[in-house]
Amino acid sequence: MRGLLILSLLALTSWSSVNADLDWWQTASVYQVYPRSWMDSDGDGIGDIPGIESKLEYLVDTGIDTFWMSPVYESPMVDFGYDISNFTSIDSIFGTMDDFDNLVATAKSLGLKVIMDLVPNHSSDEHEWFIKSLAGIDPYTDYYIWHNGTELENGTITRPNNWISYFGGYAWTWSSERQAYYYHKFTEEQPDLNYRNELVVQEMKDIIEFWLDRGVDGFRVDAVDTLFEDETYPDEPLSGLTDDPTDYDYTLHYYTMAQDETYEMVTQWRTLLDDYAFKTDNVTRIMMMETYENVTQVMKFYDAGAHFPFNFFLIMNVNGSNTASEIKELAIDEWLDNLPDNVTSDWVIGNHDRKRVATRYSSEQVDAMNMINHLLPGVSVTYYGEEIGMENLWISWEDTQDPWACNQDEDTYELYSRDPNRTPMQWDATTSAGFSTNESTWLPVHSNYLTLNLAAQMEAEVSHYKVYKALISLRQESVIQEGSVNVQLLTDNVMAFSRELDGSDPVIVVTNFANNTETVSLDVFENASDNMVVSIASINSELTEGTAVSRSSVEISALSGIVLRSGTDSGANAILSSAFFTLLMAVLARSIRC
Ligand code: GLC
Ligand code: MG
Repeated sequence: MRGLLILSLLALTSWSSVNADLDWWQTASVYQVYPRSWMDSDGDGIGDIPGIESKLEYLVDTGIDTFWMSPVYESPMVDFGYDISNFTSIDSIFGTMDDFDNLVATAKSLGLKVIMDLVPNHSSDEHEWFIKSLAGIDPYTDYYIWHNGTELENGTITRPNNWISYFGGYAWTWSSERQAYYYHKFTEEQPDLNYRNELVVQEMKDIIEFWLDRGVDGFRVDAVDTLFEDETYPDEPLSGLTDDPTDYDYTLHYYTMAQDETYEMVTQWRTLLDDYAFKTDNVTRIMMMETYENVTQVMKFYDAGAHFPFNFFLIMNVNGSNTASEIKELAIDEWLDNLPDNVTSDWVIGNHDRKRVATRYSSEQVDAMNMINHLLPGVSVTYYGEEIGMENLWISWEDTQDPWACNQDEDTYELYSRDPNRTPMQWDATTSAGFSTNESTWLPVHSNYLTLNLAAQMEAEVSHYKVYKALISLRQESVIQEGSVNVQLLTDNVMAFSRELDGSDPVIVVTNFANNTETVSLDVFENASDNMVVSIASINSELTEGTAVSRSSVEISALSGIVLRSGTDSGANAILSSAFFTLLMAVLARSIRC
């Protein structure tokens, strides 16, 4: 009984407990599930919702508190769910609405927040709205962006302007049925909705409410920059980068991306989310924006009411060929220096559209990149498989599924294909890496799964997964949740940062981007103890967990990262023992009084 009391007192008064002033999402460790590739429950070789539900405990065990799912709505799957034919139903490939409700219920019972992918810019061309719009049936006639085209001197009708699809090819497709062009930022099977039509605006708000009523905690908003286009349809200026007028890079995108009205729509959605929370349970519902625009346009989303725009700077601005100096300047400082006051930062190193971290950086850098992602201030976002360092898989032209790659030819498809980073999750060394009982899966399983898999990494003494889990656990400490950040370049290839908070033991993270060991002094972090100890280390680090190091001279292995805390005689342990002592005294005093 008394033992229990001590334990619960310890739990209650832990100095590293979550700050009550921070809302749930501000400290979230978010995990992205790509439903087709995470877990297949029925053996058809494609992941599904019951599969996701069966693995939720894994997320909880790992320390994840929030997950977002790429689309599971009804879809012809031209863009694997990003072409939606019914925004309020579940595709049978993924399961049923009951399966979805069960998923949300199980997630709630485990304390997990569920984020849906909202795809507001376009629908599938098989959506009822588009079919009716094609036929000119009201009120759907103006649900999409229609244009009669431009008449040439010889009387022929041609495209309205030079706008190009993100996936390559012209962004206008002629409909012989309607005798007009429709605009599509993505594939021609993904017509853009017309947000200058109030009915469309209302439809999307109703869709948001529909999913809120089913218990979701927020939305990842897909391709938000593409919502509006200039209504005078001017030609985009040429970029000068290529001579191919059907290449997306042929023009700049002044008139088709991040228009002012886009931000106004985001503000309206924020109001909707806030009102919803107010009229129900006062639990914040969030919006995370997918945007690859320039820093000014990205930061404007905060002002517009987004909880945060995804910070893709470690994806867009740099990769494994950059020095630490460039990573600091182009990705980290560029983000932190431009961040508005009093907002929540976030970090993302991978997603279903970009090469895996092990491939974009290198497999040696997986742990160091996870340290950066999880220990800089704010929300961290993990793409499934990055916790075990999954690698891109080369996929043949014949096996290629991604429409972006299929739009190219056999010589160039590899530059565009997103299939290599969407292969099935490598759970264990059994059939299809434990992803499916089927030996044939929608994309092939990476051949390295026999050794690179979660089960093996759970068993191993040191592994990417163990590093990852330790980082997620460290994120629970208030020094990470609320501490200041100080990023320093120690040599051209070694970057370090501290997280500091009064009353907490500082955390120092050192990352080496060079192919050789470097020796650095950490004396610039004056508040760190002279004697430190490695608390988390990359699996390729010579300095292993528990090794004592002196602040003034640390030898950091090639391409590794380490997390340092105060050594035994000070810092964490001092705080730990004093907290423990105080509690013990309190308990003793109590028992004496009884
Ligand atoms: C977003 C998605 C991407 C999709 C596109 C069109 O960029 O992340 O996967 O192809 O939008 O919806
Ligand atoms: Mg649009």
